[in-house]
Amino acid sequence: MKIIIIANRLPVKIEREEEGFCIVRSEGGLATGLGSLETDSDIYWVGWPGIHSEDENEKQEISERLHEMNFHPVFLSADQIENYYEGYSNSTIWPLCHYFFSYIEYKTEYWEAYQEVNRLFCKETIPFIEKDDMIWVQDYQLMLLPKMIRTEKPDANIGYFHHIPFPSYELFRVLPQRKVILEGLLGADLIGFHTHDYMRHFISAIYRVLDLNCSLDEINLQDRIVHVDAFPMGINYEQYHHAPALPAVREKSEILRQELGDTTVILSVDRLDYSKGILHRLQGFKQFLEHNPEYHEKVSLAMIVVPSRDNVDIYADLKTKIDQTIGEINGLYSRLEWTPIHYFYRGFSFEELIAMYDVSGIALVTPLRDGMNLVAKEYLATKNSHSGVLILSEMAGAAIELQDAITINPNDSDEIESAILEALRMPEQEKKARLQNMQKRISKQSVKKWANDFVKELQSIKTQNKEIL
Ligand code: UDP
Ligand code: G6P
Repeated sequence: MKIIIIANRLPVKIEREEEGFCIVRSEGGLATGLGSLETDSDIYWVGWPGIHSEDENEKQEISERLHEMNFHPVFLSADQIENYYEGYSNSTIWPLCHYFFSYIEYKTEYWEAYQEVNRLFCKETIPFIEKDDMIWVQDYQLMLLPKMIRTEKPDANIGYFHHIPFPSYELFRVLPQRKVILEGLLGADLIGFHTHDYMRHFISAIYRVLDLNCSLDEINLQDRIVHVDAFPMGINYEQYHHAPALPAVREKSEILRQELGDTTVILSVDRLDYSKGILHRLQGFKQFLEHNPEYHEKVSLAMIVVPSRDNVDIYADLKTKIDQTIGEINGLYSRLEWTPIHYFYRGFSFEELIAMYDVSGIALVTPLRDGMNLVAKEYLATKNSHSGVLILSEMAGAAIELQDAITINPNDSDEIESAILEALRMPEQEKKARLQNMQKRISKQSVKKWANDFVKELQSIKTQNKEIL
C-alpha cells in the first residue's frame, strides 16, 4: 500500500537559473509540513512544480529529476496558472474562506479553468493508483478531485484535507458553484479540517446546500458514509527542536547575535498575504514605538515576508502598502545606530529561518484569519537553550492548541501594543513555564501523528463501508 498525496504545490519547486534550473523547497504550511513527513508507507506526490514551461525537453528533464524523488509533476499552461491558480483558487476561494468578502472575484473563465485543471490532476493521477492505495487530496485548489477520482475508481480509498478555514454558511452560500464544490468533496471517504469550528461550518453547508442527512461528523449518502473530522496539523517537532544545534545554523545564529548586540528581536514570518494581518501588525508596532520611547534602540522588529501570488493585483497592492508603511516607520524612528524594522522580502533557507527563530525573543504572529499557522509552532519548537514568547492571533487555528501564548485580537492595535509590552516584561520563569507547556503539546501532535491519524481513520472507514455494503 502506498499513499498518493495530490496537492497543487509539490514540496519542492523548480526555479530557473542562468543555465538550466534548480530544485528548491517550497514555502507555505502545506508543503513544508507534509514535506517533512516521515512515515512507514511509501509516499508518492502528484503536484505542480511551480514553474511554467512550454519546452518539451525541459519538461521531460524536470519530470525525470522529480520522479527520482517520487514526485510526479503536473505542468500548467500560462492560461491555467492565470485562471485556475491565480483566479478561481486565489481570487475566489481563498478570499471566501478567509472572510475577505469584498475581495472575491467571480469570473466564468476562472471556474472553467478550475474544472479543467481538476480534470487534468485526475487524469495524471489515475495511472498511479493500485489496489489498496490511499489517495489523499490536499486543499482548496482541488476540491472537485475526490468526486472525479471516485467516478473513475469507485472502490478507491480517498481522503481530502482542507488546510485553510472553512467559512460559516452565511458566507459560503454566496459562492455560485457552492453545490458542485460540495459534491466534489463528497467523493472522499474522509474529509479533514484543522479545527472543530471549520468542520461544523462544513457540515452546516452540506446540510443547507445539499439537504443531505448528516450528523456532527457523518454525511449519509445512498451508497456510503462520508466521515468528517478535525486533525490539527503539526510539524516535525524533533527536526525543529534539534536544528539550532546544526553547525550551519549555529554559525548563522552567532553572526546574527553579534550584529544585534543587546537588541531584543521581535520576529514575524509570513507569505505576503492580506490574511496574515501584516499592516495591522505594523500599526501595532508603530503605536508601541510611539508610546514607549524607553524601548527605542532596545527592540527591533525583524519582518520576513516571502513573495507569494504576486501576479494577483491585491497581493501586489499589499506589497506597495507594506513597503510604504515600513518606510514611514523607519523614517520616523531610525537612528544612525538603530533601525526599528529590519525588512526581508524574500524566502529564507531552512538554516537561515531557524537562526532567525533562535535569536528572536518574541514571535509576533497576527493573522486576521489562518487555517493553522505553522510558523508559530516552528518558533516554539526551536526554542531550547534560549527562551521565547509567542504572541498569537486568536484567529489562527493554532490558537486552540497554543493557549499559553499571549493571545490577541489582530484587529486591535492597542492589544498588539500591550502584548508586546507584556512579552518584554514577562519574568524568565513564566516564559519558561509557558514555553514548556506549549512544547509538550506540539511535540505530541507532530506532523507524523497528524498523517497517521488521518490515514488510520481513512482505512477504518473503508472497512466499515465495505461491511455496510
Ligand atoms: N517558510 C519558509 N521560508 C521562509 C518563510 C517561511 O520555508 O522564508 C515556511 C515556514 O517554515 C512555514 C511555512 O513557510 O512552514 C508557512 O506556513 P504557515 O502555516 O505559517 O502559513 P501559510 O504560508 O501556509 O499560509
Ligand atoms: C497555504 C495553502 C497551501 C499553499 C500555501 C502557499 O498554506 O493552504 O495550499 O500551497 O499557502 O501558497 P501557494 O499559492 O504559493 O502555493
